[in-house]
Amino acid sequence: MAKWIPMLLSLFLPLASQNSVQQHPSCKFHLSFLQGQQMTCSNANMNFFHIFDIPLNRTHWFKCANCSLDVLDETTFNFPKRNNISVLELPNSGVRVIRKFAFQKFFLIKSLILHNNSIQTMENMCFNGIKRLTQLDLSSNYIKILANNLFLDLENLDILNLNNNRIVYINSEAFSGLSNLKYLYLNGNNLDKLDDNVFKHLIHLKILYLEHNRINNIHPHAFNNLVNLNFLYLSHNSISYLVQYNFKHLTSLVDLHLRYNNLTEIQTSSFNGLKNVRSLHLGNNYITVIKPYGFVGLNNLEVLDLINNRFETVNYFDYFGNMQNLKYLWLNNNSINSINFVYKFDIQNSLSIIDISDNNLTSIDYESMLSNLPNIKEIFVANNSWECDFFDRMYNYLQNNNVTVCINNKCEDKDGDTYADIDCIRAVTDVAFNVTEDVSTDFSMDCCQKNTHFEILSVCLIAVLLGFI
Ligand SMILES: *[C@@H]1O[C@H](CO)[C@@H](O)[C@H](O)[C@H]1NC(C)=O
Ligand SMILES: *[C@@H]1O[C@H](CO)[C@@H](O)[C@H](O)[C@H]1NC(C)=O
Ligand SMILES: *[C@@H]1O[C@H](CO)[C@@H](O)[C@H](O)[C@H]1NC(C)=O
Ligand SMILES: *[C@@H]1O[C@H](CO)[C@@H](O)[C@H](O)[C@H]1NC(C)=O
Ligand SMILES: *[C@@H]1O[C@H](CO)[C@@H](O)[C@H](O)[C@H]1NC(C)=O
Ligand SMILES: *[C@@H]1O[C@H](CO)[C@@H](O)[C@H](O)[C@H]1NC(C)=O
Ligand SMILES: *[C@@H]1O[C@H](CO)[C@@H](O)[C@H](O)[C@H]1NC(C)=O
Ligand SMILES: *[C@@H]1O[C@H](CO)[C@@H](O)[C@H](O)[C@H]1NC(C)=O
Ligand SMILES: *[C@@H]1O[C@H](CO)[C@@H](O)[C@H](O)[C@H]1NC(C)=O
Ligand SMILES: *[C@@H]1O[C@H](CO)[C@@H](O)[C@H](O)[C@H]1NC(C)=O
Repeated sequence: MAKWIPMLLSLFLPLASQNSVQQHPSCKFHLSFLQGQQMTCSNANMNFFHIFDIPLNRTHWFKCANCSLDVLDETTFNFPKRNNISVLELPNSGVRVIRKFAFQKFFLIKSLILHNNSIQTMENMCFNGIKRLTQLDLSSNYIKILANNLFLDLENLDILNLNNNRIVYINSEAFSGLSNLKYLYLNGNNLDKLDDNVFKHLIHLKILYLEHNRINNIHPHAFNNLVNLNFLYLSHNSISYLVQYNFKHLTSLVDLHLRYNNLTEIQTSSFNGLKNVRSLHLGNNYITVIKPYGFVGLNNLEVLDLINNRFETVNYFDYFGNMQNLKYLWLNNNSINSINFVYKFDIQNSLSIIDISDNNLTSIDYESMLSNLPNIKEIFVANNSWECDFFDRMYNYLQNNNVTVCINNKCEDKDGDTYADIDCIRAVTDVAFNVTEDVSTDFSMDCCQKNTHFEILSVCLIAVLLGFI
């Protein structure tokens, strides 16, 4: 049975449009047994909707795309006062201004999509009268300022999308009323600071996106009341320092992203209070040093990303020793030439994987590393300045202690000795891999030795046969 019975009802109204090359407006009905009726109009302008008198009794979904709407107010749509529309989509339709009570006719509306218009002005009370709204999409418009009480009536709103606007400032009461908001998108705006208490009404917020702004200043109480926030995305901003206890209100936070900012050092107690954070992303900054107790308070942190920073020397236990649940540490692509694994208080039993590839290391104290990080399972070492004799010793020692020394990005468990050479004498391996027959033989051997299970063995045999064709 077909789900959709397209019932075309096209209207061609000769409109007195100044723009004669414009396409004719048209509307189509789609019937769906599941979702009621959907109507899609395109290329219509304001006049079209002023004289609109198509019955909409069963229409639950109304869309006008590529229309010319300009100003939305109470009279824009000549629809019955209490219609059944629950989704109203008006994308790409040149909306510039939204006046008071513009949507109050849509008293059942749940989802309002105004993506990619030219909205600059939203009058006070423009979203009043639509209390059932759960989803509001205002992305890709020209909104500059979020006025106080703009969303006051939207007590059931779940998702507010303000991505890709020009927001420079959020007034202190801008979000009042949004007591059930869970997802707030503010990516791609021009915010340069976050004032104190700016999100204080969003007590149920779970995810906050603030990427690709110009934020350089976060007030220590900016995140006040966000006690349910789980994810905070602050990458691609201009944050150059974090004051002490910046994030202390975020007691439910699990994941914090601060990649692509301008951090040069981590101050004492910067993250203190983030007792539930599992992963912290600080990659692509300019960090050279962690101040004493820089990572204090991150008692449940498991993943720490410091990729693409500017570390030269790392004192492992001074920097990372107080995170007793740290499992994965990414230090790749820095300029590290020395890592010290001397501990002061406790060894760290949690660390499982460390990536120090793409640095400038000639050697490390692997014995002290292993005795103070006794549960380490994998170490990524490629692209350093290892001396070959040292590398052989390290490699053998770690492999003998069941630590996998990873030379490629995936850390595949390949035959050790061949790969041990790769990192310091590249030319030898190039030669070895240049002989085609050897490669296929190597591959089949490798594959079949590792998997003794019969079925896999037969797959391997096929692979070997194919290799010889
Ligand atoms: C809303 O839907 C109901 C049931 O489908 C219908 O009886 C009613 O006329 C509709 N109301 C309007 C204003 O279209
Ligand atoms: C459709 O809704 C209008 C009010 O907008 C009502 O007068 C009319 O009786 C409804 N028709 C049906 C078939 O429900
Ligand atoms: C609106 O215009 C875009 C680009 O011109 C086109 O891809 C899209 O199909 C149009 N949408 C409708 C509903 O006409
Ligand atoms: C945005 O809307 C304009 C018309 O207002 C349209 O020309 C353009 O293609 C739309 N952009 C996207 C990405 O849909
Ligand atoms: C961030 O760092 C870059 C590169 O060092 C620099 O060009 C830019 O001016 C810095 N921005 C701020 C706000 O400090
Ligand atoms: C490593 O860092 C350098 C500069 O610090 C950067 O140019 C390069 O893209 C980075 N490599 C990767 C794989 O991220
Ligand atoms: C690596 O260290 C050497 C000195 O030990 C230094 O001359 C060189 O510039 C460093 N290279 C990088 C990429 O940091
Ligand atoms: C490494 O693992 C093997 C097999 O699981 C085990 O027999 C051996 O004792 C382990 N060696 C060390 C040093 O833990
Ligand atoms: C080592 O460096 C090369 C060239 O920059 C890069 O393609 C490769 O991915 C790097 N390997 C690892 C494991 O980082
Ligand atoms: C690999 O083989 C090609 C062509 O057979 C040859 O030009 C090239 O020099 C060889 N490379 C090495 C490292 O031997």
